[in-house]
Amino acid sequence: MNMREQFIIKGLGGAKRLEGSIAVRGAKNGVLKALAATVLFDDEVPMTNVPDIEDVKRMRELLEALKVEPTVLKKDIAEKFRASIVLTGPVLARQGKVEFPFPGGCVLGERSIDLFLNGFRAMGASVEEGESYFTIRAEGGKLRGEHITFPLVSVTATETLMMAAVLAEGTTLLQNAALEPEIADLALYLNECGAQISGAGTPTITIVGGGLLHAGGISYNTPPDRIETGSFAILAALVGKDVTITNCNPAWVDVPLALLRQAGVDVEAGKDVIRIRAGDMPYQMVSVHTHEYPGFATDLQAPMAVFMSQCQGEGSILETIFDGRFRYVDDLALMGADIVVMSPHRVVVRGPKKLSRKNLESPDLRGGLAYILAAAVAEGTSTVDNAYLIDRGYEHIEERLAPLGLDIKREMT
Ligand code: EPU
Repeated sequence: MNMREQFIIKGLGGAKRLEGSIAVRGAKNGVLKALAATVLFDDEVPMTNVPDIEDVKRMRELLEALKVEPTVLKKDIAEKFRASIVLTGPVLARQGKVEFPFPGGCVLGERSIDLFLNGFRAMGASVEEGESYFTIRAEGGKLRGEHITFPLVSVTATETLMMAAVLAEGTTLLQNAALEPEIADLALYLNECGAQISGAGTPTITIVGGGLLHAGGISYNTPPDRIETGSFAILAALVGKDVTITNCNPAWVDVPLALLRQAGVDVEAGKDVIRIRAGDMPYQMVSVHTHEYPGFATDLQAPMAVFMSQCQGEGSILETIFDGRFRYVDDLALMGADIVVMSPHRVVVRGPKKLSRKNLESPDLRGGLAYILAAAVAEGTSTVDNAYLIDRGYEHIEERLAPLGLDIKREMT
């Protein structure tokens, strides 16, 4: 664990210097679900493009612990990341029982698990809430297919119930499902291995339950990380002269790229590559409205706020998914940004404003990355403490940004 490490970043003071190319790694929020899906298999699942990040290590630890206690998601590990809850579906479907603590992860406001519990209940399971663990038991040891309509769109609830339904008896219909591309990508892979899932990537997913899946040597190829792609594009727009982002899927970041273009950034997108060159300065202000995919991802909201602080005019961010995702705002304001929280869901940004150095502490994974961007734009040398939070989702970020010309190092605190 890297709790006691920090990044030291020498800011460019508004100059646009970064040059070269940077490759996007496999998607955190893709591979974590694929790792959970391995519980549905009767053989080993080969995987490629797996990012070397802390959340992947935690998921592997949870899977290891299941070898000893096959129905228990260990509390001390599961509490470290939200994606741990995705394992509940496959474990319950396979073992007929699962015990798990309330999942941890970034503090983004209220993050309930009612959609999961109600989904399991609908599929014929009982829910018992103990002091530190929930215990879910499938009636007769087997989940049964059901028609489930989600009252709101949830990425992990969609994935969890989709995976549980693969081993359930009968057919499950999920309505108002999330559309994130990692979901369709995972369904495609599970189908190659024997699952019968149709409609993944649309609001209605149908799953015909069956027996254990068999990989037979077919690999799960982790798709490129959309959030990393968008974050690098924003970094390049802020401090880049000519930056090429490779190994990505530009179609998955359509909305953020459209906003950057609207602001005046020179964005050129190919099939799996994006080239960003500094456009006419200052950039024009844009406004952001976070939304489920294919809308503007909430995970790119904090990095985008840093971008907006450098744009001319007044804009706003409407955060529609979470009610506690502005914890980065105070520090950004202390660095010199004109950014004001109007409500738990809305901030207003005016710019452009020069940012100056600050010693920062990551508030959460995506907020931490935004701090790296802010430090890169600012005048002077900043530190970003609590590197572990950034390492949860970004592989060796300093080693990958330094070759572009950013002066960034990691050190013990
Ligand atoms: N919600 C409920 N009840 C539930 C589940 C969700 O009320 O049982 C609410 C949440 O509180 C939230 C909304 O539904 O207000 C949507 O949340 P969702 O469930 O879609 O979020 P999630 O599945 O917990 C995933 C990603 C997040 C990403 C969101 C939104 C993973 C592991 N996490 O979270 O990623 O922000 O979808 O796209 O896939 C990150 O990677 O840093 C991250 C936070």
